[in-house]
Amino acid sequence: MRKGVISLILVGTLYASFAPNSDCKSCHPTIWEEFQTSQHANANIFKDPIHAAVWKKHPKSKKNAYTCAKCHTPAANNLEELMAPNGVGPDPKNPTQNDSVACAYCHRIKAIREGLVTNTNIISPTPKHYFGTRKDHIKSPYHEIDTSNPNFLKGNVCMGCHSHKRNRFGLNVCSTNENREIENSNCTRCHMPKVKGSVSTLRETKTHTFHGFPGAHVHNKMLRKYVDIEFLPYLKSFEIALNSKLPHDLLLHPARVAFLKVKVIRDGKEVFKKQETLVRVIGADGKPTPPWLAKEVVKDTMLKANEKRVFEYRFQLQPKDKVVAILGYKLVKPPLAKKLGLNEEPIATSPFILKKRVFEVE
Ligand code: HEC
Ligand code: HEC
Ligand code: HEC
Ligand code: HEC
Ligand code: HEC
Repeated sequence: MRKGVISLILVGTLYASFAPNSDCKSCHPTIWEEFQTSQHANANIFKDPIHAAVWKKHPKSKKNAYTCAKCHTPAANNLEELMAPNGVGPDPKNPTQNDSVACAYCHRIKAIREGLVTNTNIISPTPKHYFGTRKDHIKSPYHEIDTSNPNFLKGNVCMGCHSHKRNRFGLNVCSTNENREIENSNCTRCHMPKVKGSVSTLRETKTHTFHGFPGAHVHNKMLRKYVDIEFLPYLKSFEIALNSKLPHDLLLHPARVAFLKVKVIRDGKEVFKKQETLVRVIGADGKPTPPWLAKEVVKDTMLKANEKRVFEYRFQLQPKDKVVAILGYKLVKPPLAKKLGLNEEPIATSPFILKKRVFEVE
């Protein structure tokens, strides 16, 4: 009994069962299609090779205590069992685990309880009572609609999973909002923009909220306007600046590495080339370790929230030179990809381009 109460508090879902994602398809086909492309739809170990590789190395995987489920497959119908150290591991044949960060789960987040290790979502006990933000909605024959939830109205329903995650040494492994500095910064403003297409098939609306969740894996073009690349030529040198308009660091997960490549092209030939690395490394005794062994931040050159970072290059430009600046990243740092056995996995090793600018010298 006692164990039951404790784990219930930990997970906070009251053994809820959630309508499957497939139930939403008939009336919300556009949103459903977009959702399939998102990392939320693919957050489980069956579909995300990076998550699967880290889980395989995690000490808890020996006992199949898949505590990751709290955020990666929170709609699992055996969530308690799945998270406990009892040998019951993730099951690719369980459809509720394949629903990952499920539609109904997110739309039933009633409140968020803050915690030291992670925050916890409090799920509304009423099935098919979905929170939303559109006050002018019509009635749905399938579910109730509630537009009075402040977490939805402020665009912060994400903070139950995305705020922070500490390990057993108290180190913040991954955090969007460690010091609550971006409370109410409205995640949906950038990650759920309004796009063309109807909310449902029952009434035609001009726009709906994009459910492909642009981020580091997918649809990153939708986010490039939030980082500027600026160019300033001097007599004997030049500067390239990265100007972030993000309320959080450019990349958040400790596996990531970002880069800024700067080239000068003169008469079709490359005459100058330099690369900067932007990275946050966690570890112990000054060396990188897996997140569960990390005790300190070893190095942090990641572009910070709202930071403008200026890089100076001692190179004398000439009129008609072209200066090319490319801001990109890899989802997994190459040495880590090797350790995780992901060096043949394109999603982990391919460079993603976030933004490219070409400046012509006058
Ligand atoms: C408190 C919620 C939470 C828990 C618990 C959690 N994660 Fe995550 N995880 C996230 C979020 C949110 C992201 C997305 C972060 C980002 O992209 O910056 C993520 C991303 C990841 C990624 C990057 C995936 C990719 O494709 O790049 C890996 C790897 C990962 N988690 C591993 C794990 C493992 C292994 C566990 C369990 C031992 C776990 N996580 C538990 C919230 C959580
Ligand atoms: C039988 C049709 C039908 C099904 C099935 C259905 N919905 Fe809806 N839903 C609607 C209609 C109609 C609206 C209101 C659309 C409008 O106002 O134009 C709606 C609106 C919503 C809203 C918006 C609330 C707001 O006002 O912001 C959410 C959230 C939602 N549905 C979630 C879901 C989820 C999650 C599923 C699957 C588990 C689902 N719906 C399945 C018909 C349906
Ligand atoms: C139930 C937990 C949960 C909630 C709630 C949640 N997320 Fe996530 N989110 C995750 C996990 C887990 C991942 C990482 C999945 C992976 O890569 O395996 C993720 C990944 C992402 C990504 C990265 C996508 C990419 O392409 O790399 C973005 C952006 C994101 N979430 C935004 C949001 C926003 C905005 C909200 C609120 C409207 C939200 N999330 C709510 C768990 C959650
Ligand atoms: C002003 C726009 C903006 C706002 C507001 C915003 N983000 Fe982001 N977010 C971005 C950009 C730009 C990126 C980097 C895109 C890329 O990696 O391709 C990003 C990346 C991410 C990622 C992927 C990081 C990684 O390492 O995989 C996650 C997760 C994320 N944001 C979550 C959130 C959450 C949660 C909130 C609300 C607290 C939020 N964002 C608010 C613009 C924004
Ligand atoms: C990570 C959390 C999350 C997931 C998963 C999610 N939604 Fe949403 N959804 C939201 C938020 C937040 C809003 C309100 C966005 C806003 O205020 O602009 C929203 C808005 C909506 C709306 C309102 C209409 C609109 O477009 O403005 C509908 C309908 C909807 N979602 C249905 C779905 C369906 C169907 C799925 C799965 C295929 C789904 N949602 C998955 C967070 C989520």
